Amino acid sequence: MKIIEVKDYEQMSQMAAEYMIRKVKECKATNLGLATGGTPVGMYKKLIEDHRLQGTSYQEVTTFNLDEYIGLSGTNKNSYRYYMNENLFDHIDVQKDKTFIPHGDVQDFEVECQRYEKLIEANGGIDLQILGIGSNGHIGFNEPGTSFDSKTHVVDLKSSTIEANARFFNRIEEVPTQAVTMGISSIMRSKEILLLISGEGKKEAFHQLLNGDVTENFPASVLKNHPCVTIIADEAAVSGVKLRS
Ligand code: F6R
Repeated sequence: MKIIEVKDYEQMSQMAAEYMIRKVKECKATNLGLATGGTPVGMYKKLIEDHRLQGTSYQEVTTFNLDEYIGLSGTNKNSYRYYMNENLFDHIDVQKDKTFIPHGDVQDFEVECQRYEKLIEANGGIDLQILGIGSNGHIGFNEPGTSFDSKTHVVDLKSSTIEANARFFNRIEEVPTQAVTMGISSIMRSKEILLLISGEGKKEAFHQLLNGDVTENFPASVLKNHPCVTIIADEAAVSGVKLRS
């Protein structure tokens, strides 16, 4: 894993956006894996700004998001489809029918999970996957204990994840308790991974990632087995974290 330390959230967002822009310029038909949550918002802002000022085009890009809440349709303001439209898709020239997010409002989730997995495969896989990390080490919504062999599946969210995400909802009772997420093996098949870590709240997780064992109890640890991972972490997340000597 290559680790880049930057000063703050602003610099992390700038560097991450530049990384993605480079990728899209190298290959216009890139398949991007995207994340939601607080971490990538700044990066998406920078992508929008660059699209407006420099004209970087996403017309041939295909996107696959990591996850979606169960029970929320794409028009619900708390759905990840809504988040992606608001924070990125509505402001760049990506073709909406080439932006994929698991559906959270279907009847048969087994079918939905298989459909999503096949969709990624049929499009040739993900070239660059953006990840955030949960304070319990989750990636996507793969909570501690998830098999490293998992494909797209339904998860019960841990109470720590529900509590962390309650900030986006009016009341904690409104946070869905389940989600559909790409599995760990789905994520690991991405050709390249960019993990963003920002803020003091992620310090423990960053420490565990760097110094802990590779274990299903800490899902992000699997990234140590991937050949091409870059981490951009800011000072607040890095401070005091030492690489194992
Ligand atoms: C979001 C996702 C999650 C988040 C993680 C960190 O699509 O898959 O794994 O990346 O929960 O969330 P934030 O960035 O809000 O701290």
